[in-house]
Amino acid sequence: PAPGWSTRADVVVVGSGIAGLTAALRLHAEGVGRVMVVTKDVLDAGSTQWAQGGIAAALGPGDTPLEHEEDTLVAGAGACDPAAVRVLVSEGPEAVRELIALGARFDHDPDGELSLTREGGHHRDRIAHAGGDATGAEIQRALVAAVERAPEIEVIQHALAVDVLPAADGGVAGVTLHVMGEGQRDGVGAVLCRALVLASGGLGQVFQQTTNPAVSTGDGMALALRAGATLRDLEFVQFHPTVMYLGPDARGQQPLVSEAVRGEGAVLVDFEGRRIMDGVHELGDLAPRDVVAKAITRRMRETGRPHMWLDGRALGRAFWERRFPTILATCERLGIDPSTDLLPVAPACHYASGGVRTDLWGRAGVPGLYATGEVACSGVHGANRLASNSLLEGLVFSRRIATVLPGELRPWSEPVADDRPPALVSGEVRAELQAVMTERVGVLRNAAGLAEAAERITKLAAAGSERVDLDAWQATNLLTVADALTAAAAAREETRGSHWREDFPETAPTPPGRGPGHYDVTASH
Ligand code: SIN
Repeated sequence: PAPGWSTRADVVVVGSGIAGLTAALRLHAEGVGRVMVVTKDVLDAGSTQWAQGGIAAALGPGDTPLEHEEDTLVAGAGACDPAAVRVLVSEGPEAVRELIALGARFDHDPDGELSLTREGGHHRDRIAHAGGDATGAEIQRALVAAVERAPEIEVIQHALAVDVLPAADGGVAGVTLHVMGEGQRDGVGAVLCRALVLASGGLGQVFQQTTNPAVSTGDGMALALRAGATLRDLEFVQFHPTVMYLGPDARGQQPLVSEAVRGEGAVLVDFEGRRIMDGVHELGDLAPRDVVAKAITRRMRETGRPHMWLDGRALGRAFWERRFPTILATCERLGIDPSTDLLPVAPACHYASGGVRTDLWGRAGVPGLYATGEVACSGVHGANRLASNSLLEGLVFSRRIATVLPGELRPWSEPVADDRPPALVSGEVRAELQAVMTERVGVLRNAAGLAEAAERITKLAAAGSERVDLDAWQATNLLTVADALTAAAAAREETRGSHWREDFPETAPTPPGRGPGHYDVTASH
């Protein structure tokens, strides 16, 4: 549809979690004139708000960025970009200190030192946390407060970024928004801009059960693909091992039970009370996330059970209350007391390790387009993100974008006619899409299942929508990223990290000249 209204901003930032708000604040601090933040719901509806465990950085006595680097590379199973990992771990400590200076209140030990815990894949205590298990909510609070102190940053809530308005050189001339509001800016409009920063999060809603909130529908990845960018490592979808199991019909966002619970001593057991991680990995219950998720899935298959158990009884009631108030409240709502009962848990979709291919400065390969946070893929996560590296990634790479972008601002350009408008898909396809993705492109994959998924996605794409509304945009974007993910998963004929192929159970030696980017997906895949 033709835009019904238009406005201008030097830079539009799409998304309002740690990546988006850090980018906006830093760009503003760097003197960029008009910075606009666009968010599909309210400012704190994204994934950052839900992050429990914390943010990883070499902040503790004796810890070093090199050790953090080593753990990140091992978790990433040979598919990380080492240069990107070096950036993440070496700039991480300063970025976290800056977040603290901005007002984020992290937990401290009785001696006044920053309290640090451990999660899967880490050989040291290096996870800073806030409010016990409410780290994301505290970071989000501090960032929103900082944005409120900078009224020059314009915020548009309830606005979906639909597509790049292309300039004659193929770069960014603006972005179309669909604003679900009333008054001056309602419906589809255009923001002319000189740069667009995608910080719109992940794609968890592609699957039936996910820890991601409802807004995680892959919008930024789909937009970038249509704008000519490349998606990288999309097959590496991380399934969190301990998501509360609420029954076979549970759909959408499910409660997370942080890895920090195992970091504090809880253990995984089966229905016979046998320890699941015994003999599986040297780190036992704190093995990297993909290893734990696979071990749980294997035991579920062997025993025909829909879930396993997390035993945190030994932590004791007082510890649960102090250290994990968020998870405890969820348990209590479900009638479970984790100091006396076992918690039913099963793996569910948690994080997209892949995304929009960027360089080390967040540049997405289309002039004027940048990406940061979960929507992006600089190569820091490889085949399996290390626990608590995601908030850190958003922080570090948004700071980097704000360093280079002001010097790279494009002149204003007129949009040219776009020959790539998406054919809108009906919102009614969503449930079927999620079912096929969960069954065929979920934790365990094979060629026949992936081919079937690709075929069904093509059929679902034919279900056009008469209506131009949020449901239809989101279904279109979900279908676009599901298609790309399925293609990437079919192309990678090996098992590596979170990509588990039952027909190719071995990890392939990397052939010369074929790095992790071999499985890139573009709009014409
Ligand atoms: C958790 O708290 O287990 C999640 C941390 C993460 O996803 O990195």
